[in-house]
Amino acid sequence: MTKGIPHASAGENLQFSTLYTATSLLRGIFILTPFWTSVTTKFDTHRKAADLITKMRVRYGGRSVWVKGLSGKMLLVLSQGDVKRVLDGSDEVFSLANPQKVAGIKQFQPDSLIVSQGELRRDRRRFNDAVLTFDPLKDRFRAVAHEEIEALLSELDGTVMTKEDAFRAFRRIARRCLFGDSAREDDAITEMLLALRRNANWLGRKPWTKDKAAQLYDRLAARIAKYASAAEPGSLMSRFPEAPTTPQTNPVGQVTHWMMAFDVTSLGILHALALLAVHPEHRARAMGDEDHLRACFWEALRLWALVPSLTRVTTEPVDWDGEIVPAGVEILIPSVILHRNPQLEYADRFTPEVWLDGRGQRDWWIHPFAKGPGECPGKGLGLFLGPAILEAFLQRRDYELLEPVLDADRPLPYMFDSSKTSFAVSKPTTRAPSPDSESPSGRKSA
Ligand code: HEM
Repeated sequence: MTKGIPHASAGENLQFSTLYTATSLLRGIFILTPFWTSVTTKFDTHRKAADLITKMRVRYGGRSVWVKGLSGKMLLVLSQGDVKRVLDGSDEVFSLANPQKVAGIKQFQPDSLIVSQGELRRDRRRFNDAVLTFDPLKDRFRAVAHEEIEALLSELDGTVMTKEDAFRAFRRIARRCLFGDSAREDDAITEMLLALRRNANWLGRKPWTKDKAAQLYDRLAARIAKYASAAEPGSLMSRFPEAPTTPQTNPVGQVTHWMMAFDVTSLGILHALALLAVHPEHRARAMGDEDHLRACFWEALRLWALVPSLTRVTTEPVDWDGEIVPAGVEILIPSVILHRNPQLEYADRFTPEVWLDGRGQRDWWIHPFAKGPGECPGKGLGLFLGPAILEAFLQRRDYELLEPVLDADRPLPYMFDSSKTSFAVSKPTTRAPSPDSESPSGRKSA
């Protein structure tokens, strides 16, 4: 075997560009597009890309490979060792702020952590870590989750719950946790961000929309600043005064990423509820055991990665198996495929146990929250709020998954069309502790 980094063949490049790069763009980098999500799911493009990647891994002996990216040569990470090398490496050398991503993301979070580098990044990371370590708010957040799911279930028009129904409640929960109870009905703030995320999907390729997007972002930031100055008790905003800041931090500028991240968490909740609906044995265990419920949520994040690709850019030359990778090279970790690596004997099965015995956390193939210095600072919040909302659902009703079809006895599909998700909802036959018999604040914390 020759030293250095192998190059994908012309055929492999063509297939990779079609099955992975183009479909990722069509599905949407910053917000899923319902039409293309349905089309790509129908054609099962992730499974086809996974087959290609497995062939390439065998052909190149598990080494990472040069492939054609959107802006030149890109390094496609195919081995567990290389996932660790990049994610666990310095975020100064393997920067999260790659130009493609930044071109889109800057439209709705021009001052956020993920687009920052060097000292500014360290400054904003400190602030994010401090605010998102939200332990004193846990009881309130759990109570908000229960109240809003109760309200949603009683508001349902009939016995079917669609994705839109669930998201109405998730967004109320997000606004109350982020900004406080006064933001419960502030759909406008959510809509403003959604519009900016849709525009960001074009990765800056619609320059004529730039000014309009900038004005919209200014209006959104002003609205967030109002909530920040009110600092309602029990909201994440109320933690701002205690968190470390410098004149550069820009606390308000961090919040649009968090708003997007709450939406990301919501998709994971929908996936987990679907999995629990078709795995009654896990549902039964999860209802009496918080650790198991959290493991079920985490496992849903493995099976359908909410951040499908992690990308980094080198900021200086890096020695890579005897070859020098120059500065400015994009590195792609196709997490959504690697989480299902066929070498994992549980790859395509719902196996919450791997998060209880530590296999999921240990394995570098699997990284739903990334790992290393770029690991998600909202991981603790996501792993608390997701299960809290699931608990609120499970305690109140039974759920039958109507769409999409999932068969627990067959390997789980690579793609899940969340835009089409719906459940038949009925009064519970499974007995659970009554939500009213125990106050949320009296429960064991996750
Ligand atoms: C289940 C829910 C979540 C998942 C799966 C998730 C996943 C991730 C992943 C994979 C990254 C790394 C992105 C990259 O490398 O490009 C990330 C970064 C980040 N996440 Fe999350 N996230 C979740 C929830 C949250 C929440 C609730 C918040 C805040 C309220 C949050 C805030 C952030 C921030 C600020 C970053 C940037 C980190 C940095 O640049 O160092 N996330 N998240």
